[in-house]
Amino acid sequence: MTVRDILKMGDPRLLRVAEPVKEFDTPELHALIADMFDTMHAANGAGLAAPQIGVNQRVVIYGFKQNPRYPEAPAVPETVLINPVLRPLSADREEGWEGCLSVPGMRGVVPRLARLHYEGFDQYGNKISRDADGFHARVVQHECDHLDGILYPMRIEDFSKFGFTEVLFPELDPNDDD
Ligand code: NI
Repeated sequence: MTVRDILKMGDPRLLRVAEPVKEFDTPELHALIADMFDTMHAANGAGLAAPQIGVNQRVVIYGFKQNPRYPEAPAVPETVLINPVLRPLSADREEGWEGCLSVPGMRGVVPRLARLHYEGFDQYGNKISRDADGFHARVVQHECDHLDGILYPMRIEDFSKFGFTEVLFPELDPNDDD
């Protein structure tokens, strides 16, 4: 288990479409997920996608009880989600602040689907099938976007709501956002 380097925006590896996982419950997959949790926890992240550590596979993790980077956010169940498929449950969109470990020190307001259904598999190949809304739905959409080479700044519609965390949210610990 290792804390891996997180690629930063500008690295072309963040712009690739990731490959589906074909084999579950393998030592390689378990090692990847262990590294992803170590890396996410070391950075106090709300989620992490495999491409952010340079692994071009459709694997994301997310979840927390309390997160210092998003102190207002409700708990999100700790989840390993592989080969995800997302489906809107309504056309409603909600705006909310996002950051990304690959875009350190910045936050932006991003419109996302307010409610969605998602499916995929855990690392053992067990099916996951859930409905989500609010911050949970936002995190899933943000992480799954990484699998298609999309970073949240590409989703921003109002650039007057994009800036440095230390200016926008001076109450947050800047060490949690680099
Ligand atoms: Ni991200």
